[in-house]
Amino acid sequence: MSRITLAHYLREQQTSLPTLDAALVRLIEQVAHACVGIAHALGQGALADLLGSAGQDNVQGEAQKKLDVLSNDLLIEAHLWGGHLAAMASEEMEDLYQLPADRPRGDYLLAFDPLDGSSNIDVNVSVGTIFSVLRSPVREAVQVEHVLQAGRQQQAAGYAIYGPSTQFVLTLGAGVDVFTLDRSLGQFILSERALRIPEATQEFAINMSNQRHWEAPVQRYVAELLAGREGVRGKDFNMRWVGSMVADVHRLLTRGGLFMYPVDAKTRAQGGRLRLLYEANPMAWLVEQAGGLASTGRERILDLQPQRLHQRVPVMLGAREEVLRLEDYHRS
Ligand code: AHG
Ligand code: MN
Ligand code: MN
Repeated sequence: MSRITLAHYLREQQTSLPTLDAALVRLIEQVAHACVGIAHALGQGALADLLGSAGQDNVQGEAQKKLDVLSNDLLIEAHLWGGHLAAMASEEMEDLYQLPADRPRGDYLLAFDPLDGSSNIDVNVSVGTIFSVLRSPVREAVQVEHVLQAGRQQQAAGYAIYGPSTQFVLTLGAGVDVFTLDRSLGQFILSERALRIPEATQEFAINMSNQRHWEAPVQRYVAELLAGREGVRGKDFNMRWVGSMVADVHRLLTRGGLFMYPVDAKTRAQGGRLRLLYEANPMAWLVEQAGGLASTGRERILDLQPQRLHQRVPVMLGAREEVLRLEDYHRS
C-alpha cells in the first residue's frame, strides 16, 4: 500500500478545494510540525523535567503546566516565518499574538488550545492540541474583533491527540480525515478517510460530578439515559469520561457517542466551561463534517457570534439523534 503523507494529501486536496491555497497548506503543515514537537516533549515527560506546574496562572485563572507553556511556544515558533498568518490567539495568552514587525504576514488567523486536558498530563492520560483557522480581513494591526467570527467561517480545523499513537484529525470542509504519526519519519501518514458518526448511540460522556449543578433539561436527559432499559429510552447506555475534550471527542468520532459539557450553576457566570474559539468551534465543525450535530442545547455552536476572545459556551455534540433530543428538552 502506498503511504500518503499529510503534505501529499494537502496537495491532492488542492485540486478539488478552491479555498485551500498555498498559504493555508503551509499553515496546516506548520501546525502539524509543532504537534510533532509537542508529541516528542510529552513522550519525554518526567525524564526532561517537563511534568508539573509552571508556577503561574493563565488568563482563565487556571494553573499553567510546564507543558502548556512549552506547547504554546512551539506553536508560535512554528508560524513565525511562514508568511501565512496575520495573528494568533491561544488559551494561554490573554491578548492576540501579533507577529513581530519584521516577519512576513498573510491572510489567516490561527486560534488554538496548545494543550487540551493538561490537568491529565501528570497521570499520563491522552491530551491534545486543538486548532481553528479563520481568514483575516487585515494583515496588520489585527484587532480582537477580527477574530470574533462565527465558527461556520472556519477555513480549517482539527486537533492532534497524543495517545498510544499520535494522530492528527483534520477538516477542510470536505469531511474529516485522520493521519497517524510515523515516529521514525516524524511525518503524519493518512490512516483513515471520511469519518462518520452514527446517528444513534448508546454511549455518552459528561462530568457526572457536576450533576447537582446542571439545568433541568440536562437533568432530565441524563436521568433518562441512566434509567436504561427500564426507563423511557428502553435501552441501556454506557458512560465514558476521560476529562480531556480531545480524547472524549476522538472517541465519538471513532466509534460514535455523545459529549456534553453543559453550562451549570458553577459556570453560569462565565457562560460554560469550554472556550468557543479554540475548543467548541473546531470540535463542532469536525463533528458536523462527520455527520453529527453540535449545539449549546439552544443554538447551533457554529452559528454563535463570538463576543470575547476567551468566551465560554455550553457544548453538546456527537450523535444526531441525541443532540436533537437535547435541543428538544431545552425548548420544552
Ligand atoms: P484545558 O486543559 O485546555 O484547560 O481544557 C480542559 C477541559 C477539557 O479538556 C475537559 O473536557 C474539561 O476541561 C474537563 O474539565 P473538568 O475536569 O473541570 O470537568
Ligand atoms: Mn482545553
Ligand atoms: Mn489547554
